[in-house]
Amino acid sequence: MADEESKEKDAKSAALEKSAAAARAAAKNAPPRAIATTSDRPSTPPPPAATEPAKAAAPAAGAAGPSVLECRGVKQRYPSPKGGYQIVLNDIDLHVPTHDFVSVVGPSGCGKSTLLRLVLGSESPWEGSVRANGEIVTHPDRRRGIVFQKYSLFPHLTVLDNVVFGLELDGTWLLQKWLTWPWYKKTHHKRYVETAMEYLRTVQLDEHAGKFPHQLSGGMQQRVAIAQAMIMKPSILLMDEPFGALDPGTREALQVAIVDAFHQQNLTVFFVTHDLEEALFVGNRLLVFSPFWKGDDTTPILGSKLVMDVPTPTGRATGVKQTAEFQDFIAHVRRQGFDSTYRQHVDEFELRAPKLAGA
Ligand SMILES: Nc1ncnc2c1ncn2[C@@H]1O[C@H](COP(=O)(O)OP(=O)(O)OP(=O)(O)O)[C@@H](O)[C@H]1O
Ligand SMILES: [Mg+2]
Repeated sequence: MADEESKEKDAKSAALEKSAAAARAAAKNAPPRAIATTSDRPSTPPPPAATEPAKAAAPAAGAAGPSVLECRGVKQRYPSPKGGYQIVLNDIDLHVPTHDFVSVVGPSGCGKSTLLRLVLGSESPWEGSVRANGEIVTHPDRRRGIVFQKYSLFPHLTVLDNVVFGLELDGTWLLQKWLTWPWYKKTHHKRYVETAMEYLRTVQLDEHAGKFPHQLSGGMQQRVAIAQAMIMKPSILLMDEPFGALDPGTREALQVAIVDAFHQQNLTVFFVTHDLEEALFVGNRLLVFSPFWKGDDTTPILGSKLVMDVPTPTGRATGVKQTAEFQDFIAHVRRQGFDSTYRQHVDEFELRAPKLAGA
């Protein structure tokens, strides 16, 4: 019985590999796709037009540059309660250069948080590799900051101390700090406090530096968490539904704040959300993961694939969300990635970001 199960798993894995290889071969033979800019996006879907003046020009998504993040043939699976495995991510290739604001969407359960954990390093892929700054990711480190939906602040520390905390932990040995406190306070601590205040100004919380988390609103707490992550100058800032628990007004204010911080701090952001409008508004590149796709007749449909990877304009005023073009694009994304009755063939995916060399 165990033998049969293992044979079946091997057969599924072989079929999966075969389909991935076929998709890769098809992609290699396909004519090269031009990188669309905000002005030359194809007519279907129409580009979400900026009806209000752009705050800043969006860098071309996937533009050539050093890779902050690289996923090659990433597959992930988990033990299934019914026995065997549940394949969650199926052969994900991805290249994120510096200063991309990547929004990630997909139906619930498609593997967005799984991918984020692989990038963070809190788990490893079943197959394939994840590299950050050229190195294989094996564990979380300070170069990959993360902001979760639930505020992750220390309740007993003030806003300022919450933001300073990472620097102190990173830059000093606790014993050394304790033994040399007057000297330490005059040198390092003073500098850390000045830096933290700069970041608090960025998220407009400098006037609340002395408050404790319970004295702040949810939106303010999340802004502290963003400052806390940014101060460590991560090469990539990972965010998993960071605004999911906020009311619509606060949520929109934070969307604007994170886009501003992206430009001011020259961040690279990997932003997971289930809200298509939010994804399209904040990012300059949209990734859509979906379990709704089809391969060749013999290909088992297992796990989610990257079905869209396209550049999108960023830095626009919030009014753009009400335009017909913005809404049309959302409808297009919803069909491509969220409609279980509509399944694209692996060769039809809208992948306009440049392919990885050799992928
Ligand atoms: N540690 C785990 N063990 C077993 N199954 C897991 C584990 N983590 C995730 N899964 C399963 O993997 C699938 C993808 O989960 P994941 O949390 O990545 O989805 P998601 O796209 O982030 O969903 P949501 O939008 O609801 O947050 C789900 O079916 C989930 O049950
Ligand atoms: Mg999730």
